[in-house]
Amino acid sequence: MELKGKKIGVALTGSFCTFEKTFQELQKLKDMGADLYPILSNASQTISCRFGTPEMYLEKIEAITGRKPILCIEGAEPIGPSGYLDILVILPCTGNTAAKLAGGITDTPVLMAAKAHLRNNKPLVISISTNDGLGMNMKNIGLLLNAKNIYFVPFGQDDYVKKPNSLVAHVDRLQPTLEHALENKQIQPVLQSYQSKD
Ligand SMILES: Cc1cc2nc3c(=O)[nH]c(=O)nc-3n(C[C@H](O)[C@H](O)[C@H](O)COP(=O)(O)O)c2cc1C
Repeated sequence: MELKGKKIGVALTGSFCTFEKTFQELQKLKDMGADLYPILSNASQTISCRFGTPEMYLEKIEAITGRKPILCIEGAEPIGPSGYLDILVILPCTGNTAAKLAGGITDTPVLMAAKAHLRNNKPLVISISTNDGLGMNMKNIGLLLNAKNIYFVPFGQDDYVKKPNSLVAHVDRLQPTLEHALENKQIQPVLQSYQSKD
C-alpha cells in the first residue's frame, strides 16, 4: 500500500545516536507525500547530549514534518477518540519504551500515542534501538513481536563484538515495513544481519 497521503504518526524516543538516520528517513516519507505527525517522549525533548540538543531536534522535526510535535500526554490522547492516524511508528524505540509498552505503562506522550492508536485496531510499527535487546529487554521484544497490530522494522546485532546484546533496526527498511504493516503484514525477514566483523 503506497504511503502517499497516509497519516503517519512518528514517535521519537531517546536513542539519540539514531536521530540523524531517523531524520533522513522521515524526510524520505515526507518527500513521497506522507502526512507526518511528530510525537516526542519526555527524554527525547529534554536531554542534551553529545548528539545534540532538544532545541536542535525540535527545529529539525518541525522543518521536516511541517508540524509542531506533540510534547505532552494530553496532546497525544486525542489520537484515540479521533482516530486520525493510519499508522504510528516509534522510531527510534528505546529499550525503556519497549519495556513500558510491553508492560502496559503509559507515562510519556509516545506511550500515550501508542495506547490511543492501538485502541483503534490500527498498525503500530517499532524500530528498535537498544543495547540490551538480547539481554534484559529480550522478553519485552518477544512480547511485542507476538502482540496484535504490532510490527517491527527488521533488526539485527549492530556490533556483536563490543555490544553483544545490542539490537538496532535497519532504519532504511522503514518504508517497506510501513507498506506491509498497513496491510497487516510483518515484513520478512524480521531478523537481518549487519555485516559480519569476522
Ligand atoms: C546519549 C544517550 C544515548 C542513548 N541511547 C540509547 C539507545 O540507543 N537506546 C536506548 O534504549 N536508550 C538509550 N539511551 C537511554 C534513554 O534515553 C533513556 O532510557 C530514557 O529514559 C528513554 O526514555 P524514553 O524511552 O521515554 O525516550 C540513551 C541516553 C543517552 C543520554
